[in-house]
Amino acid sequence: MRKDTPIPSEVVDKYAEQMGLEDVGKASIREIKRLVDLVEAETGERYVRMEMGIPGLPPSDIGVNAEKAALDKGIAALYPDIDGIPGLKKEISRFVKLFVGVDVDPRGCIPTVGSMQGSFATFMTVTRMDKNKDTILFLDPGFPVHKQQCRVQGTKFDSFDVYNYRGEKLREKLESHLARGNVAALLYSNPNNPSWICFTETELKIIGELATKYSVVVIEDLAYFAMDFRQDLSKPGQPPYQPSVANYTDNYVLLISSSKAFSYAGQRIGMMVISDALFEKKAKDLRPYYGMEQFGRAMVFGTMYALSSGTAHSPQYALEAMLKAVNDGEYDFVDVVKEYGEKAKIMKKLFTDNGFKIVYDKDEDKPLADGFYFTISYPGFSGAELIEALVYYGISAISLAITGSERLEGLRACVSLVSRDQFPDLEYRVKKFHEHHG
Ligand SMILES: Cc1ncc(COP(=O)(O)O)c(C=O)c1O
Repeated sequence: MRKDTPIPSEVVDKYAEQMGLEDVGKASIREIKRLVDLVEAETGERYVRMEMGIPGLPPSDIGVNAEKAALDKGIAALYPDIDGIPGLKKEISRFVKLFVGVDVDPRGCIPTVGSMQGSFATFMTVTRMDKNKDTILFLDPGFPVHKQQCRVQGTKFDSFDVYNYRGEKLREKLESHLARGNVAALLYSNPNNPSWICFTETELKIIGELATKYSVVVIEDLAYFAMDFRQDLSKPGQPPYQPSVANYTDNYVLLISSSKAFSYAGQRIGMMVISDALFEKKAKDLRPYYGMEQFGRAMVFGTMYALSSGTAHSPQYALEAMLKAVNDGEYDFVDVVKEYGEKAKIMKKLFTDNGFKIVYDKDEDKPLADGFYFTISYPGFSGAELIEALVYYGISAISLAITGSERLEGLRACVSLVSRDQFPDLEYRVKKFHEHHG
């Protein structure tokens, strides 16, 4: 092992051994976090931490103040309606109209305990609509917890990496999966965690058309809503809007997280938006589970009731107030999160100037947007080897291997927790790495 790495190698080795980590490159996100915490504590050297995808900005005051005021009024003692407080449902519906450009009745606009509960509830309900359709298809790379949700609820899933199927090529590949007839719903995130690819209108149209043709529900995960900063998606009621499959099929559920857009991750509140057509849809195979056949009612009075009987009361007031301010044009949430894109641009350049490559680098013919995540590789290294090597240089990230990506040489880097005052350190460390390995 080299002796002249920015982080003393004996300290890294000592803690890796103490933790029983035979192969640091294959450690989980949480194990890497623990190792880095220990090494930081002993050496006093601050890592460039790019492993966890958590917001790095303060929450909006509008939300916090509304939540405090609601608590002062005593709402903590009361059960909220399962499908959300009326004022919030109305603001979600307005938000979708003003920022996606589609009409959804407030009835289908349902707050959830984080977007995670929205996906859990949707997997559960859609796979019971038709007994022949029991599988969720993931358009990978993706967020590993979604697959974990399928595993814990016993739902079958299938996936493919879209890397080689961009543009028109997506049609044949996607159709080959949907034509099997067992897919109840498909899910992708857009912009994508981990790769930050954004589907083009051509691709969204293909997804929408095939979903209609094969009667498959599209679960569109908009956890990074409006964060494709190549376009200005920040103006309510004015195009361009957040690109969405909702323009190409009426068989959809949108999941909109408030964790990143409003830096509200701690309060675990997200939005599930069920299209009017899907809400109304009747499916007789739902009856044994729910005693009713209408999808929307089964979701609310069956699945959501059973899971948590709704979402905590006070964060609903927070989200209502934030959305109202955004919808009324008084609060520009996109301007706040733009910082992620600006940091990504600088950080990507530090890596590419020093021998690294961006793994997912294009949306069809367009260079990728700069945002919350980017993907890197270094010639001659597998993803696992690269993670392990970078730990000695004070840099942490996660391997794309756990995201369903076929690009096993790649790492996902998250910009949110890296502060600008760390850029000189990052530059020094990647330069050293390149010097030692180039
Ligand atoms: C793609 C994706 N979906 C969903 C989530 C979870 O969102 P929430 O915090 O609203 O549960 C995340 C969070 O990192 C994510 O990256």
